[in-house]
Amino acid sequence: MGTVPIIFPPGGRELYTPSMEHPGAIVVLDFGGQYAHLIARRVRQCGVYSQILPAETPAESLTGTAGIILSGGPQSVYEEGSPQGVPEILDLGIPILGICYGMQWMVRALGGEVSQGTTKEYGRTEISHSGSLLSPCPEKFTVWMSHGDEVADAPGFDVIATSDACDHAAIACESKKIYGLQFHPEVTHTEHGQDILKSFVEMCGAQPWSVGSYKDNVAEEIRSEVSDRNVFMLVSGGVDSTVAFTLLNSVLGPDRVQGLLVDTGMMRKGEVEEIRSAFDELSISNLKIEDASEEFFANLEGVTEPEEKRKIIGNTFLDVQRRVSEEMGLQSQGEAGWMLGQGTIYPDTIETGRTAHADQIKTHHNRVDAVEKMIEQGLVIEPLKDLYKDEVRELGEELGLPHDLVWRQPFPGPGLGVRILCEAVSGQRSAVSDGISTNGVLYSVLPIRSVGVQGDGRTYRQAVALYSDSPCVVLDAAWDLATAIPNSNPEINRVLQCTSHIEPVSLTSHPVTITRARADLLREVDAIVTEEMRRAGYYEQLWQFPVVLIPVSENETDESIVLRPVESQEAMTANAAHLSEDCLQKMTSRITALDGISHVFLDLTHKPPGTIEWE
Ligand code: XMP
Repeated sequence: MGTVPIIFPPGGRELYTPSMEHPGAIVVLDFGGQYAHLIARRVRQCGVYSQILPAETPAESLTGTAGIILSGGPQSVYEEGSPQGVPEILDLGIPILGICYGMQWMVRALGGEVSQGTTKEYGRTEISHSGSLLSPCPEKFTVWMSHGDEVADAPGFDVIATSDACDHAAIACESKKIYGLQFHPEVTHTEHGQDILKSFVEMCGAQPWSVGSYKDNVAEEIRSEVSDRNVFMLVSGGVDSTVAFTLLNSVLGPDRVQGLLVDTGMMRKGEVEEIRSAFDELSISNLKIEDASEEFFANLEGVTEPEEKRKIIGNTFLDVQRRVSEEMGLQSQGEAGWMLGQGTIYPDTIETGRTAHADQIKTHHNRVDAVEKMIEQGLVIEPLKDLYKDEVRELGEELGLPHDLVWRQPFPGPGLGVRILCEAVSGQRSAVSDGISTNGVLYSVLPIRSVGVQGDGRTYRQAVALYSDSPCVVLDAAWDLATAIPNSNPEINRVLQCTSHIEPVSLTSHPVTITRARADLLREVDAIVTEEMRRAGYYEQLWQFPVVLIPVSENETDESIVLRPVESQEAMTANAAHLSEDCLQKMTSRITALDGISHVFLDLTHKPPGTIEWE
């Protein structure tokens, strides 16, 4: 574990002083895109530590590294301002694997040629290969391609794979152990992708790594980082903060750790009581529970803009923490004072947009300005910030937390706050855009926007709802439209199916803020969904099942609900999940029976172009 997270100022290469904290690890250089995390995660699944660093990391910072992977990225190597690595890294004698954009940058840096593609190759493609890095794979197999440009000439390299459309699907320079793949081995659509990464990792001779070895080493690092201070920690009840709190308790002892659970008024039904009893069973008694719901609702009054809501929630957390710590006689700063503990995990530190080549997707509540300042002052400890979610769960079990607790579906820190939508799309009634799609499906454009992600950019766009005679059956045609509509309509980033109505009616949205009544309504719906999801046996299969309250209805008072079940590995990408007709019917009829609910929709959008949460 390192100390303070590396901060990458926009375009500020000179300000950035990279550190190589893990000699013997594999470094993934981030050339943009969302895929660097997937690569790093897959490398760790090979039993080796991996870390993401910016594309421009100087060669001298990489000397102790076992191997380097150059990630893909959405730009063209010819584009002005596109990420450029440092050519000297190619002379370090360290094995290198360039993927897609990373391969193209590498080939150009070594004197080869990349042609600006006139046609894009996107999707599944069959390749045939002649061995080398690809020897664990069958002679022909299917890979995932996503590129416009392609390598035209790679002097010094042998071509080791081709596809019908691509002469340089994979290349190798065995003497230097430098390899390039035009396709993405890190995505599940590529068959044998994990075998290919394993084959690269094995030739790097990297040091073995596991969550068990992490646990053994992290204790020493926590002790030295905290020194003689104590740690004050906000516990949300989610998996990450629960594991972080338990880890700090086990390393520093209960006398030096104080937990605070802030009841924001935006927790799930019965959640506070559940958390209290789970910790009671673990004999962890240093957790104070503070009901600050009034303060949260008061601060959010009149606020509709999603990013502002998120910041207010993050800042209110800090205000409550400061107030309670003062009331409890704890100092928040100073030599022998207190540090703030947080359950931030590895993807959180980068989702906020800290890489040099990704737009800010959204600010994580653990990364609002006030926390950033404390991080700069060395007042924050985040003992899980190098781990991925499933590694956190494994660590939780190693620490003795019950299986059911650590395998709970992830729940965002700001709780239902990011699932109670407030902003309306004014002056537009959705029926204006009602229509019949080319294959006979009825649809309407809803007067509400949600956050999405496309390429490296964040989107904030409207959703389309599809209607069908069998509203709780999602036909293949609807799944196809869920991919096709956002691809061909720049103003749309989500596709839903209405599960409560068979035909569109005129819907309007009204600007509202987060109130206790709205939170209570969503809490009730969320409890119904969780109960039905468990009953149908989906709880363990699904990564997450957000339920979103949207101020959309036929009048100015009622609201509608969006069901958002997803399957995912690390939340960086996600697939909208298929639920049975029976389960959807039960959820829908129980939800529409509640007072104040107008429509129920099922979100069919994958991530990208949607995100898991709507804000
Ligand atoms: P998205 O919506 O970006 O979510 O696909 C990825 C993962 O992050 C969680 N998430 C949040 N967690 N504060 C959090 O603590 C937030 O503001 C927040 N927004 C999203 C989301 O639940 C998913 O697991």
